[in-house]
Amino acid sequence: MKREKTKNLIDIKDLSKKDIDDLIKVANDIIQHKEKYSHKCDGKILATLFFEPSTRTRLSFESAMLRLGGKVLGFSESSSSSTAKGETLADTIQVVSGYSDIIAMRHPKEGAPVVAANHSMVPIINAGDGGHNHPTQTLTDLLTISREKKKLDNLTIGLCGDLKFGRTIHSLITAMSRYKNTKFILISPDELKIPDYIKTEVLEKNNVEYVETNNIEEYMSELDILYMTRVQKERFFNEADYVRLKDYYILDKHKLSTAKKDLCILHPLPRVNEIATEVDGDSRAKYFEQAYNGVYIRMALILSLLEVE
Ligand code: NCD
Repeated sequence: MKREKTKNLIDIKDLSKKDIDDLIKVANDIIQHKEKYSHKCDGKILATLFFEPSTRTRLSFESAMLRLGGKVLGFSESSSSSTAKGETLADTIQVVSGYSDIIAMRHPKEGAPVVAANHSMVPIINAGDGGHNHPTQTLTDLLTISREKKKLDNLTIGLCGDLKFGRTIHSLITAMSRYKNTKFILISPDELKIPDYIKTEVLEKNNVEYVETNNIEEYMSELDILYMTRVQKERFFNEADYVRLKDYYILDKHKLSTAKKDLCILHPLPRVNEIATEVDGDSRAKYFEQAYNGVYIRMALILSLLEVE
């Protein structure tokens, strides 16, 4: 079938800083004037193809399209799709791109969204590929940081937990490395340190300041943002390693005692044990606002990829 060149979002690097600024502006405008946008995608269909579990990402994409007046179809587990019969991703995408105007896809294999984009007639959005990237979570994070801090420059950002397999971490580092005077505090057990390619190809290449530690309290007083993550159980080969590492960090009120009054605590969710529920009532806990913001930045992204005015 004839394929026209379409825009995709595979990696956060596909967007310039200006593109990100524009998406944040539109998302803020949607939050202020929801009714203005409620028919922008009338007649359009979003397909959500989720080959891996999800709550927020899939439902926020679907909510985003429904709030724009569009419709949604898709599946939420590969076992209910023809993948279970042995169909290739390329064939699934070729077919579904004839049933929809835009596709959001989550897949356990790193790089699968590139294969999808090569076989799609419509824009492909990477909604998470293995332990690699998660660009729309990063857009959600950037919208939240810009709303909370009124800036994206000059921030000291603590990233804590599974920095090895956490795809939200990899995309967030890539995005924030482009802003002025970003400093990262990379907090993880030795086994879950940030991959070397992120250090050399992102941090060092862009001269971004960073330190690595396994102590969550060591730099607490310097942080503007603390981004907690869960240990990514599904990426472990060995259950015993997961069990040993899963409760390595539990953020509680005591650990926050030296933190700034305007610290912003984020987490892409789902949370397992890494933030005690006693922190939820702290005015610095912004992870549920972050999840809320996800719908609006995805609305802005859908409008942009579908080139709706
Ligand atoms: C994240 C993911 O899927 O990578 N969740 C999300 O999209 N909000 C984080 C996680 O699963 O730990």
